[in-house]
Amino acid sequence: MPEVRLTKRIEFAAAHRYGHKAWDEARNRAVFGACFNEPGHGHNYMLEVTVAGEVDLQTGMVVNLYDLKQVLKEILEEFDHKHLNLDTPYFREKIPTTENIAAVLWDVLAARPEIGRLEKVRLFEDEDLSAEFVGIAGQAGLTKRYHFAAAHRLRHRDLSAEQNQRLFGKCDSPGPHGHNYVLHVTVQGTIDPITGMLVDIPTLDRAVAEHILRRFDHQDLDRDPDLTGRMATGENLARLLWNLLVNRLPAGRLARIGLSETRGMYYEYRGEEAGKP
Ligand code: NI
Repeated sequence: MPEVRLTKRIEFAAAHRYGHKAWDEARNRAVFGACFNEPGHGHNYMLEVTVAGEVDLQTGMVVNLYDLKQVLKEILEEFDHKHLNLDTPYFREKIPTTENIAAVLWDVLAARPEIGRLEKVRLFEDEDLSAEFVGIAGQAGLTKRYHFAAAHRLRHRDLSAEQNQRLFGKCDSPGPHGHNYVLHVTVQGTIDPITGMLVDIPTLDRAVAEHILRRFDHQDLDRDPDLTGRMATGENLARLLWNLLVNRLPAGRLARIGLSETRGMYYEYRGEEAGKP
C-alpha cells in the first residue's frame, strides 16, 4: 500500500553556547563570534517532524496525531527552556549547532517507535536558518533564507503585442513591475565533528551576497546579461541562481534553490541530475 507523509511542527525555546574546549579564547572568538559569549543566548526553535507510513484502514491515519503531539511534548521537556550545553547530556562534547541539535532530536525521536517511521527532522533556529537530518550519521542539510527586490516584465520579443498580452497578462505591463524575491539556499554535506557545522554561515552569506544579492537586488532582471532575451520567469531565475552558486559554496554541495516570487508562488530547482523526486 502506498505511503503518506505527514509533518508536525512544535516550538520550544532553549539557550546554547558555541565553543571548543581545546581552543583558546581568541580562536573560539574567531570561529564562533558572538555565539561564544557567556553564558550563551537563546532561540525560539521550531521543530518539524516528518513521519511516513501506510494509512490505517480503520482510523484513516498514518499515526494518531494526539499520540504524536504527546510524544513531541514529552521529548521536548528535556530541551524546552533549558540551556542545551548545561542542562542536557547531549552537548558535553558536541557543540549545539542547529545541525547537531537536529541530529540529537532525530535520535531521541527514533527511540519512540509509536510515532511511526521517522523520515525527516527539520529544525528552524529562526525564520532564516534551518537544518535537516534524515538519519545518516554525520550528514545534514542546511537552509538559509535571503531576500532581494527586483523588477521584471514578461514579454517575448518574437510574439505580437496581443499574443504577449494573452500569454502574460499583467506581467506584460510596460512598467515593468517587481517582486520581493525570497531565496532559500540548501547545502548538504558532512557536519564538521569539531565545529558542529556543515558550512560556515558568514562565509556562505558572503558568497550569496557577492554572486547573487549584489547582482540582482534593486535591479531590472530583464537587463541582466544572463536573462536578456530570455524570460525572467521564476523558473529561469531559479536555474540561473543555481548556476551562479553551485561551484562557489565554501563547503558541502548545493542541494536545492528555492525561490518565492510572491507569497503565493514558489519555485524549486535541484540541478540537472536531480530531476527525480
Ligand atoms: Ni544561536
